Amino acid sequence: MNAGILGIGSYVPERIVTNYDLEQMMDTSDEWIRTRTGIEERRIASDDVDTSHMAAEAAKQALEDAGIAAEQLDLILVATVTPDYAFPSVACMVQDQIGAKHAAAMDISAACAGFMYGMITAQQFIQTGAYKYVLIIGSEKLSKIVDWNDRNTAVLFGDGAGAAIMGPVSEGRGVLSFELGADGSGGMHLYQGEHITMNGREVFKFAVRQMGDSSLRVLEKAGLTKEDVNFLVPHQANIRIMESSRQRLSLPEEKMSTTIRKFGNTSSSSIPLALVEERTNGRIKDDDLIVLVGFGGGLTWGAVALRW
Ligand code: ACO
Repeated sequence: MNAGILGIGSYVPERIVTNYDLEQMMDTSDEWIRTRTGIEERRIASDDVDTSHMAAEAAKQALEDAGIAAEQLDLILVATVTPDYAFPSVACMVQDQIGAKHAAAMDISAACAGFMYGMITAQQFIQTGAYKYVLIIGSEKLSKIVDWNDRNTAVLFGDGAGAAIMGPVSEGRGVLSFELGADGSGGMHLYQGEHITMNGREVFKFAVRQMGDSSLRVLEKAGLTKEDVNFLVPHQANIRIMESSRQRLSLPEEKMSTTIRKFGNTSSSSIPLALVEERTNGRIKDDDLIVLVGFGGGLTWGAVALRW
């Protein structure tokens, strides 16, 4: 049984913080942020909106889009590095908020690659026939773990959530191949003590290599070539990293999602947020072959070749 995406949804906080706003808060400039990262603005959640709230809102939209009732869900997986609490998990909080009475629920910790890990975990349950409908969510309130005095990291991140309902799809559709990986030896290049600490250059080098390599490998595993790809959805961490993946796949500019401009780096939420954006504006169409690829703290990575 193939597993595919049956519906998607998203939630972003209303408050927009532009690069110009950040200029007022720290020693930085719109020019530096835009040219080094591609980010123009990001959303920041208010004090009363936490990760679980954003996750539940995105989930409700995804359920509606899929035409599935919450009671039909078998499993809820939430990828997050900013849970409301260590426990209960965000997944359990969502289960309660949306009324998914029959669903098991757990959080996944794979940082910015979390949504890819969630997607492939869901795929295994669906493929074996153990479960039919799985809700996967990436939700992050990164603003609560950013050091607002550290210009090296504060300008990069934003808040938001994206969700997908996965379930059985016909042969030749859905997840065609995947790759998940980890390299714990690089863990201290990007970690959260009290705040996010990052060795930007090391992460950059790792990401450039991994994103391109993994994208090409999932195509090969699925018996496809670069020419088959209709659209690329990379983790939105830095436009220069994303551009290098796009070039490795020989894709024109308009075939890659660049929601980073509006949302910054939203960690596990970035890929589903981009999916919603690109489906809404018609750049990802039915039957398109898309490559999703992410990397993150751990270090972790994941890539999927998916027929919509
Ligand atoms: N505004 C102005 N200047 C700044 C800022 C800022 N916000 N931040 C750093 N600078 C300065 C630095 O202090 C440095 O000054 P110096 O040369 O006087 O020391 C100068 O800009 C250049 O800094 P670099 O670190 O060389 O800049 P670089 O071009 O490497 O870009 C960046 C930094 C954007 C962080 C880049 O390394 C990067 O994107 N790395 C990957 C980061 C990433 O992807 N993180 C997320 C990964 S996983 C996840 O999503 C959680």
